[in-house]
Amino acid sequence: MQTSSKEKFVPVSREEILAGSEKLSFDLYSINLDKGQLEPALLCRRGTSSLQVAQAISEALFDKLFVRKQALQDFYDHMEESLGTIISNPRLPTQKKSDILYNCAANVMQDVYNDPRSGENMERSRGISDQIIRFSLQDPAAIPTLLSLSSHNYYTFTHCVNVAVFGVGLWQFIGLGSPSELREFAQGALLHDVGKGAIADEILNKPGRLSAAEFEIIKTHPRQGADLMAGKVSDLALDIILHHHERYDGSGYPEKLAGPTLSDNAKVAILADVYDALTTNRPYGDARQPFQAMLLMKEKMVGHFEQEKFISFVKFLSKTSI
Ligand SMILES: [Fe+2]
Ligand SMILES: [Fe+2]
Repeated sequence: MQTSSKEKFVPVSREEILAGSEKLSFDLYSINLDKGQLEPALLCRRGTSSLQVAQAISEALFDKLFVRKQALQDFYDHMEESLGTIISNPRLPTQKKSDILYNCAANVMQDVYNDPRSGENMERSRGISDQIIRFSLQDPAAIPTLLSLSSHNYYTFTHCVNVAVFGVGLWQFIGLGSPSELREFAQGALLHDVGKGAIADEILNKPGRLSAAEFEIIKTHPRQGADLMAGKVSDLALDIILHHHERYDGSGYPEKLAGPTLSDNAKVAILADVYDALTTNRPYGDARQPFQAMLLMKEKMVGHFEQEKFISFVKFLSKTSI
């Protein structure tokens, strides 16, 4: 099958490019449809200084900008490095910052889930959780906007970003602890399903009902994740990874912890995890609307959650009006 040259390019926004750091780390292309151009042409070579890039972009005001598909990783790396500057830039709208942060977070988490043993990936996951927190503290619209972007198709790495964003929002709404605890909570939420990497895809993505034996295998992922992350993340983050499938009435797994033995951090992560699972398309079920998800959690999942946290969750959900 032949691919057209446009399929080899991915559109990028000028805000993303201008928000980037000192030097361009990929070739930037542009195309002016009004002038009848059909193929993207090179606008700035990799290594061009940000000043020269800004000049070239202002001269090509009506052009659409692209990067080559093969250079997408460099583009994401460039964005990831610049996240701090992007988030504190008062000229960039919340929506644009959210777009960039969400895409960077999903990209980092994809790498983390592919190679959870990499120390560099651990550092990157910490960087992302810090930026989610910074953004949420700086801009009251950050969490709702990030949540509105959440992918409705299930991938472990986007699910983890969604759980971290929702969890950070709910955690702050309740006011659970100190800023350093929030950092650890966010990293734990990002990594909560890291043990799924050890489970076969045929089981994880099975469209029908799981057999009892298959479900037993799925149930090993919190423990496998905690074992994998032991010594790499804080105890608070490990608590989230190990206990995000526990239930308030003690019917969860792997340790069947109940009520008071569950930490507040784990209780928030449990709510965020269930809510995202219900509002995302899964191999075995379609996504529900936020209100339907909330109703199902209230009526059909009695005993799963601590009542007080569930009420906070409902209030938070109505406040963010997702
Ligand atoms: Fe899980
Ligand atoms: Fe999960």
